[in-house]
Amino acid sequence: MRIAILVISDRSFHGEREDSSGSLIAGMIAHALPDAAIVQTDIAPDEQDQISARLIAWADGGAADIILTTGGTGFAPRDITPEATRSVIEREAPGLAEAMRAASLSKTPHAMLSRGVAGIRGRTLIVNLPGSPRAVRENLAVILPALPHAVQLLQDAPDSEAGHAHQ
Ligand code: MTE
Repeated sequence: MRIAILVISDRSFHGEREDSSGSLIAGMIAHALPDAAIVQTDIAPDEQDQISARLIAWADGGAADIILTTGGTGFAPRDITPEATRSVIEREAPGLAEAMRAASLSKTPHAMLSRGVAGIRGRTLIVNLPGSPRAVRENLAVILPALPHAVQLLQDAPDSEAGHAHQ
C-alpha cells in the first residue's frame, strides 16, 4: 500500500511553523500498517488550485493508493481543503468522514467543526484529516483498520471478496 501525505497549512508552507502532523501520520502508518510505504510528502498553502493540482498529480500519476491530507478543514476563512478535494474526486466515500466525526464527538464537541471529506479519483482514495496533531491521532486511528480493504477494492484484486468476512 502506497500512501502520500499532503500537509495543508499557510504557516507551515511559509516556514513560520514546523509541521508535526505529517510526521505523526507517517509514524502511525508505520506502526499500524507495516507493509505500507510513505511514497510522497509535501506541504501546500491553503490555496485551492495548488491543493487540487497536487492531488491530481499524485492520483493520476499513479503514485499513491491513498492520499492523506491534514489541515484546512475547519471554518477559518482560508480553510479550503474540502472544496479542493471535492473538485478532484470522482466518487464520494462519505463513510470515512462520517466515522471520523462520529468517533471524534466522544473526544470533543469541536469534532463537528471539521468539514473534511473523502473520495476516490481513479484508483486513489483521498481522505481529509484535520490539522492538529491531536486531531490527526484521534481521526486517523478510526480509519486505519479499514484502509487495507479499501485499497484492495480499489485495485479490484481477485481475492478482495475475502476481506468482506467480518473481523
Ligand atoms: N477531531 C478530533 N478527534 N480531535 C480534535 O482535537 N479538533 C477539531 C476538529 N476535529 C479535533 C477534531 C477542531 S478544533 C477543528 S477547528 C476542526 O477539526 C478542523 O481542524 P482543521 O481546520 O485544522 O482542519
